[in-house]
Amino acid sequence: MPDSTPRGLTRLAFGGDYNPEQWPEDVWHEDVRLMREAGVTMVSVGIFSWALLEPAPGVYDFGWLDRVLGLLHENGIRVDLGTPTVVPPVWFYRAHPEALPVTADGTRYEFGSRGAICHSNPGYRAAAADITTRLAERYADHPALAMWHVHNEYGLPVSACYCDTCAGHFRDWLRTTYGTVEAVNEAWGTAFWGQRYGDLDEINPPRTTPTVGNPAQALDYRRFADATVRENFRAERDVLHRLSPGVPVTTNFMTALSQCDSMDYWAWGREVDIVTNDHYLITDGRRTHVNLAMAADLTRSVAGGAPWLLLEHSTSGVNWQQRNPAKAPGQMARNSLAHVARGSEGAMFFQWRQSRRGAEKFHSAMVPHGGTDTRVWREVVELGAALDVLAPIRGTRTVADVAVLWDWHSWWAQGLDWRPSEDHDARERADTFYETLYDRHLTVDFAHPEADLSAYPLVVVPALYLMTKTAGDNLRSYVEQGGTLVVSYFSGIVDEHDAVHEGAYPGVLRDVLGLTVEEFSPLLPGERVRLNGPDGSELNGDVWTEFVVPRGAETVWTYADGLTAGRPAVTRHALGRGTAWYVSTRLDGEALDAVLGRAAADAGVAPLVELPRDVEVVRRAGEQGSYLFAVNHTAGEAKVPLDATGTELLTGEPVEGRLTVPAGAVRVVRLDG
Ligand code: GAL
Repeated sequence: MPDSTPRGLTRLAFGGDYNPEQWPEDVWHEDVRLMREAGVTMVSVGIFSWALLEPAPGVYDFGWLDRVLGLLHENGIRVDLGTPTVVPPVWFYRAHPEALPVTADGTRYEFGSRGAICHSNPGYRAAAADITTRLAERYADHPALAMWHVHNEYGLPVSACYCDTCAGHFRDWLRTTYGTVEAVNEAWGTAFWGQRYGDLDEINPPRTTPTVGNPAQALDYRRFADATVRENFRAERDVLHRLSPGVPVTTNFMTALSQCDSMDYWAWGREVDIVTNDHYLITDGRRTHVNLAMAADLTRSVAGGAPWLLLEHSTSGVNWQQRNPAKAPGQMARNSLAHVARGSEGAMFFQWRQSRRGAEKFHSAMVPHGGTDTRVWREVVELGAALDVLAPIRGTRTVADVAVLWDWHSWWAQGLDWRPSEDHDARERADTFYETLYDRHLTVDFAHPEADLSAYPLVVVPALYLMTKTAGDNLRSYVEQGGTLVVSYFSGIVDEHDAVHEGAYPGVLRDVLGLTVEEFSPLLPGERVRLNGPDGSELNGDVWTEFVVPRGAETVWTYADGLTAGRPAVTRHALGRGTAWYVSTRLDGEALDAVLGRAAADAGVAPLVELPRDVEVVRRAGEQGSYLFAVNHTAGEAKVPLDATGTELLTGEPVEGRLTVPAGAVRVVRLDG
């Protein structure tokens, strides 16, 4: 059994992607000296170095990597060793031009960047297995080796290839999944627009068509592409498990970045020994720390609640957004510890030393171009010291209050063309529901719609358009057994083949919600509707309305205007020992909070403590004790009420009754008892 913690790492992980191949060797000595100064415990090495390790076909040069690993080991730094399969060398592509991926409109990418890979290509698969085998044979017993880092961020920058090799591979996948062409015709509804196939060999990837193509085919292609990439991960992992037994294998995910929605991380989470994640702040004007918390919660959930590791984030600005602001003083540590609060066993960065050349030279790093007499470096050193003190939390698990349902397949399906409104965005709903719970200071686990939900008093379903019958039954029995459910509009509409469930909307949720929906009636841009509710309360909705017919549910808020005036807008259904709420329009965070407040009361869910906005309190607990993290994102000092005594680990001070958290700071209390 491979370990699920980095081998030989006795502290929290702190370090970054280390690319010594970009620097002369004398800089390496300076690097390890600085790593020690900063308290670096682990670095990721070799991720992009295939062309250096195998400069010509079958010609290997491991000398430089031997020296790098030796130097790191001598200095007590553990190594997360990359398999460099995200960038095959140019000689490989010249011999296998068909390994370059093709877009849906037939454009073949060129060598010269990274991640240009057709994952179905047999030449690529063989070459990747070979370089992985060589590395494993050479380094399996290296004393610095802590874990294996396969590839890099599968799914980016190319999430699917549409070449002829993939076409054949897709047909094989269809054969395995469906058996016969009749079954494919049935699943895809090819009676529509005369798309019927007579033989599986007639089927191609969903390449560019004159107008909208078959949605079920497009959905299956996303499943196929995800499964294909996973096959390649598994192949490398199995080589590593065989030749390097006991050493954990990971690949870095990007769980909550909407730029990377192509991997079904529920499935991926089961394949890795340690879940690791990369997270970058998206500067789109929203509160970046909320997206950070969401990413961390989702990553922990993908890890089944077990500790995971933040493998990449940035010390300051990135370089790939339209505008790349620096992080504010203190923000890097706050970001890092916010991930740790939510289950990360450390904080790692892209990258150690800022590059002078190449596409990422304006991306921040632990050692900036300006060297060590810089704010960033001083903050890096401080963070290293803080993480050192927090080592005792290793192995504890974050404690969650509520669950949000999340499914990549549903997300893929909702992204397909020709839906009732292009203003409805499933991801936006997930973000807003999450943010509302965050603002109630509730810690969220994400869960698959078919997962056991009995541990959660409150379960929220943001907009899960695709839902299987099994998921519908699951939610029904969850409520019958005493759970409280809150469901957004446009949930439970289609099955796994994007076919509308039989009967009235919302198919598999009709019974649990105690209603039917006769019609959707999306609003035009800028249009809003008023909702009248209990005690004279008035809410506003936009984007979406529906003609809801209660069939057992009571109406709590009613549409006051628009086409649906006088009809139910928000309903509540008492079923068995629980209740199910339905929200049929798009409510902003504040309005949604009015609904969630009532649902939380049904569920008996109260926040941990009464807190100001943007002050996070999260708990990690385990055999080694219970730790309370308080993260203050505000510009003022925060007082966090505590009904326990304890010791604050970063200052060493005893705490009783109330914890003071300075502006922008983090405090971690080891609770007594
Ligand atoms: C990540 C990637 C790194 C680096 C980083 C920059 O997605 O894994 O190699 O490119 O982004 O933010």
